Amino acid sequence: MNERAQIQVFGETDVGWCAATPPNETTDEDGRPLIQDKGFTAPDPRAPRRRAYDDPEVCALRERLRRHNGLPGLEIVGPDEVERARRIFFRDGFVVVRDLLDAARLAAFREGSARVLKQILDIPGVGGRKYVTETARLPHRYSYGTSSASRQLLHEPVWASMVDLPTTTPILSSLFGGDDYWVIGAGGDLCLPGAIEYQTLHSDNRETFQLTPERLAHARRLGVELRAAADGVGLDDRARQLALERTPPRVTINFLMSDLTFENGPIRQIPGTQARPGSPPTQADEPEWMRLSTLVGAPAGAGVFRDPRAWHGGTPNLSREIRAMPNVEYAAPWCEAGAFKPSMPHEVWLGLSEHARKICDRIKTSPGEWPAGAGVMHPLANRRSEAKGSPSDVPGRRQQPGR
Ligand SMILES: [Fe+2]
Repeated sequence: MNERAQIQVFGETDVGWCAATPPNETTDEDGRPLIQDKGFTAPDPRAPRRRAYDDPEVCALRERLRRHNGLPGLEIVGPDEVERARRIFFRDGFVVVRDLLDAARLAAFREGSARVLKQILDIPGVGGRKYVTETARLPHRYSYGTSSASRQLLHEPVWASMVDLPTTTPILSSLFGGDDYWVIGAGGDLCLPGAIEYQTLHSDNRETFQLTPERLAHARRLGVELRAAADGVGLDDRARQLALERTPPRVTINFLMSDLTFENGPIRQIPGTQARPGSPPTQADEPEWMRLSTLVGAPAGAGVFRDPRAWHGGTPNLSREIRAMPNVEYAAPWCEAGAFKPSMPHEVWLGLSEHARKICDRIKTSPGEWPAGAGVMHPLANRRSEAKGSPSDVPGRRQQPGR
């Protein structure tokens, strides 16, 4: 089949829709298919029973999504509306900003996203399946980050080139209250046509509810009034909650390679959930309004600035278009240095802007050092561990940064 010879992450494609892959099936670390009832892989009890474009249950779901999918009144702001973006981000836990990528950057990111995806899909599936499902994910859904043996894609010059853009840096500086934030990683996720299941609602990072002196100082810098509690011990409840909400440990920008439509797996975000102590609902308990709370209407070239503590999840891709959202992940200035791991080769780092070099300082390697595992994409956890454990087994990797 030559469907993978010309993968594109926008427009119609023959990729996906593997009817031989049962609904809700994932794989273990070695690729053995199984159903797992927890985490990202909790089965979607409402999923169609066949992974086929014209299956009646798929068609019925597609019709329901055509009529109802998408957050009503979703605000999409321009990259120059920095204050508005900040207001919406702190209110909702995310904000969609259009035109983050110009035509050249969008084309470059689409090329990189397709090329890296091809590496994943080129690995043949078992038992007649077209693809290998990623360990601990639902079928036809992949993470660019976790599929990489280095856990990041910052060795890819395309990803590295997106960390400091004229459209994103002013908004990031506003959200972090200055320009002393850090890049901590880059990757993103995608779903193929035929990803018929909803991914469980989740947070990427759970709030720790720890307000360290550094975090409190940061909250003060962001304008949070740190009033003491009436009994003089600690903060009053309102100040404490506001400090937690306004100091996300991470901010992620997911860039959209295609328009998000009702049927191509638009991400769902539940507004206002970024600093809640409770857990999101399970698959069985999730109400329909949350399943429909998606970012339909966000255009290609836009991005979603996400507080990754906010509840979110993947939704069915019932179209014939791949939905890819490569990302860059940033950490707050107060985050402890131990959280950062080298994933950007020094030689890639050298080619970046002055500001980009500054914010990537904690994740770059020493000169001549190649990040362990970088360049190996594999859906299976144990294959990635092997690659990471013995990078010298990967011929030419040290000589070929970015590939
Ligand atoms: Fe997530």
